[in-house]
Amino acid sequence: METLNQAIEDARGRYLSANPLSMAADKSAERYLPGGNTRTVLHYEPFPLTMVAGEGAELVDLDGHRYVDFVGEYSAGLFGHSDERIKAAVREAMEGGISMGAPTTYERKLAELLCLRFPGIDQVRFCNSGTEANIWALTTARLLTGRSKYLAFRGAYHGGVIKFPHGACPLNIPFDFVLANYNNTRGTKEIIRRWGHQLAAVIVEPILGAGGNIPGNKAFMEMLRQVTEETGTLLIFDEIKTARIGPAGTQGLLGIKPDLTTLGKFIGGGLTSGAFGGSAEVMAHYNPKLKGNWNHAGTFNNNVCSMAAGCAAMGEIYTPQRATDFFEQSEGFRLSLNEMFAAKEVPMYANGMGSIIAIHFSSKPTKKPSDITAGCQSLRPLLHMEMLLEGVLICSRGDFFLSLPMTESHLSRARDALEKFVDRYKQLILGVLEA
Ligand SMILES: Cc1ncc(COP(=O)(O)O)c(C=O)c1O
Repeated sequence: METLNQAIEDARGRYLSANPLSMAADKSAERYLPGGNTRTVLHYEPFPLTMVAGEGAELVDLDGHRYVDFVGEYSAGLFGHSDERIKAAVREAMEGGISMGAPTTYERKLAELLCLRFPGIDQVRFCNSGTEANIWALTTARLLTGRSKYLAFRGAYHGGVIKFPHGACPLNIPFDFVLANYNNTRGTKEIIRRWGHQLAAVIVEPILGAGGNIPGNKAFMEMLRQVTEETGTLLIFDEIKTARIGPAGTQGLLGIKPDLTTLGKFIGGGLTSGAFGGSAEVMAHYNPKLKGNWNHAGTFNNNVCSMAAGCAAMGEIYTPQRATDFFEQSEGFRLSLNEMFAAKEVPMYANGMGSIIAIHFSSKPTKKPSDITAGCQSLRPLLHMEMLLEGVLICSRGDFFLSLPMTESHLSRARDALEKFVDRYKQLILGVLEA
C-alpha cells in the first residue's frame, strides 16, 4: 500500500507540473525576500502559488488556475475580493485625499458602528493590525492594574510577537506570560487564583484559532469572567477573528462582557486594520482632553482607505442580520461536512464554529490542542495539496474560512473535493492514525 510520504510526494509532483510559473516566481523572489517570502504562514512546500487576480470568492494564479478561496485571508477576507461597495468607498476616500494627518469623518463613523455592535466596547481606538491591538490591550491592562504578569493559553495566537504554539516563542515581546491549558476550567481557575493579584490580564481567543479552531466551551469562558473579577484582573477577548461570529461576536453569543476587546482582520473591509476597546471609563485614559492621559500614537491609525472601507463593510454589508444569516449558512456547511465524514466512516472532523473551520483527522471534535495527534498533523500536507489540485484553496494547516460571496456551488465544490479525498485516501488515513 502507498505510504503517506509516497502519497505526499506524488501530490507534490502533480502540483509542480501544474504550476511552473508560480515555481519560477517563487525562485526569483528569493533574491530580495528571504525564502521569497514576507509572511511566513503563506509559505508551504514545495512552493506557494502566486496569485494574480481575485473576484468574489475566487482567485486566479499565475498559471491561470481558478480557485474557490477558503484561505479567505485567514478570516480578513470576509468580503471576498471585489465587493463594489468596498471598492467605491476606497476610491471615494482616495479622491478626497490620502494621509491627511487629521481626524476624518470615517474613523468617527466606523467607531460608532463597532461600539453599537459589541457589548464590551463603549469606546474604541484604532491601530494597524491585530498584533498591535493586542499589544495596546495588554499595555492598557498593565497601566490600569499596576501589575505586569499576564495569563495566556498554550496554542494561542495573538500576533506575530505574541504567540504560544508550543509554549512561549523566542520571537515574542518580552512580556511576562504565565501559560494555562485552553478549555481546562479547573486547572486555569487554580492558576488564576494562584497568581491572582499579580495578573494584569487574561487574554483569550474565544475560538483558539491557529491552535486548531477550537471553540472555548461556555463553562470555561464563564469561569474566566468570574475568576478575573475576583482577582481584579482584566479579561481581554481577542475577537480579531471571532468578531465575525454572529451579530455581536462570541461575546454576544456567550453573553459575556470582557473588559477589553481586540478587533482586526475584517473590520477594515479587507484592508489593514486593528482596534481595541472597552468601557468608557477605561478608554477615558486615552482622552487627550484629560490631564495625564495616555498617549496612543500611530501614524496610520485612521488611514482613510481602511476607515472608509470599514464603514462600508460594517455599515452596509455585514449588518447584524447578514452576520446572523451567514453564521447559520456556514454552520450548516460545517455540519454537512461532518455528516459526510461520519457516513463514510472516516476519522475526519470539521472543527470550529460557523465560518471558522479546521479539518482534523479525528472522528471526534477537538476540544483542546493536546487532542491533535502527530498522525493528524502528518496528514495535513496531503489534504492541502490535494485540495489545491482540485481548485479549492485552503490554508496549509487545514483551515477553511468562508466568505460572504460564497454560493452553494462554491461550498459544494469544497464538499465534493473533500469527499474525493476521503474516497481516495480513507485506508491510508486509517493506517496513519493507527500507527
Ligand atoms: C486571534 C488573532 N489575534 C491576533 C492576530 C494578529 O493579527 P495581525 O496579523 O493583523 O497582526 C491574528 C492574526 O491571525 C489572530 O488570528
